[in-house]
Amino acid sequence: MYILLVFLWVLLNINVWTLWLMLCRSGFFFESRSRRKKEVRARNAGAAIIVAVLSAGMATAISWSYTAAFELLACGVVITEIVFAVSEAAAGHFSQSVKKRLGAMRISGIPAVAIALFLMIFGFVNVLHVSETDYSFRSSKLHRSYTVVFLADVHYQTAQPLSILQDSVSRINALSPDIIVLGGDITDEFSTDGELQECYEELGKLHASCGVYYIYGNHDRKKSARPLIPHYTQDELKHAIASRGIRVLEDKSVGIGDDLLLTGREDYSWPDKADAKTLLADTNPSRYRIVLSHQPKGAADISAQGADLMLSGHTHGGGLFPLQFTYPLFGSLTQGRYTFGNMTEITSVGLSSWGAPCKTAAKCEYLVIRLSPE
Ligand SMILES: [Fe+2]
Repeated sequence: MYILLVFLWVLLNINVWTLWLMLCRSGFFFESRSRRKKEVRARNAGAAIIVAVLSAGMATAISWSYTAAFELLACGVVITEIVFAVSEAAAGHFSQSVKKRLGAMRISGIPAVAIALFLMIFGFVNVLHVSETDYSFRSSKLHRSYTVVFLADVHYQTAQPLSILQDSVSRINALSPDIIVLGGDITDEFSTDGELQECYEELGKLHASCGVYYIYGNHDRKKSARPLIPHYTQDELKHAIASRGIRVLEDKSVGIGDDLLLTGREDYSWPDKADAKTLLADTNPSRYRIVLSHQPKGAADISAQGADLMLSGHTHGGGLFPLQFTYPLFGSLTQGRYTFGNMTEITSVGLSSWGAPCKTAAKCEYLVIRLSPE
């Protein structure tokens, strides 16, 4: 599917660029040769934007994925800039010195090409490396220590091969955790039925002395985005999870020992979700309360109900650079640690990426949280 998208995008780019170049060369836009230098810059920038927007629009229509659209938008800019750089060097500059030719190519967007290529290559490589991110907290509510692992947004198999998941599972098991949480969007609307089974076959190998838990995300119960490819049903998803001994928490709490309470929240996009007050109404305030919520929304409300720790994923840390800088503008948490009253909120950037095998705004991670008595 991905190769098909790239192929269609290249075709579109070639066609749009050819049309644009013909119009420019025919003098349709530019008549005065003396104004050429300034106009070359403007023309190149304009062409890049038009092709990029068209590419993004087409990608969105085909893939139903805005991240793929952004990635292809970057590709559109790259291809356009390369073509214009070559065309500027070839059109009328061969009689000039090498220095002038290089200057013309530079103006034509070589720096933009270099930056975009670097970002794309970095993104492709970055998504194949998973880090462990550690946090430690103390609380007088706790009677013993706990090691909690939080793993979210695998989106199997968007970007990472099975070997990455296998490696993460064995590294997590080596920590001998007490609690493991799968924080939603482990599979998504692009996952096949076979990938669902393959993914949970591997995740079923996770071991935690106090259990492995699951909360739903906003993608994992979606209908297939690719009608011709066999997708799983919601029942099949539930069975794949539960049959591996993983407990799904849908607006439910589970007591662990006599000092800890784990509350799994329905996803923010789910119509029948409980509000924060209902979710934590009957919970014992003397216990250390952890709320698991795929999307890092409503943290202030959760804090007001007396939770001590909230764990989320979903954002991918912004996904593709420079989107991470836009999240705060919309009031969204992006990545890392936040404080709401007495509660700490941690937003994980997730294990992988969504929509395209490229992640440039953040690393790939799972969280290891060590809790101990004060
Ligand atoms: Fe999500």
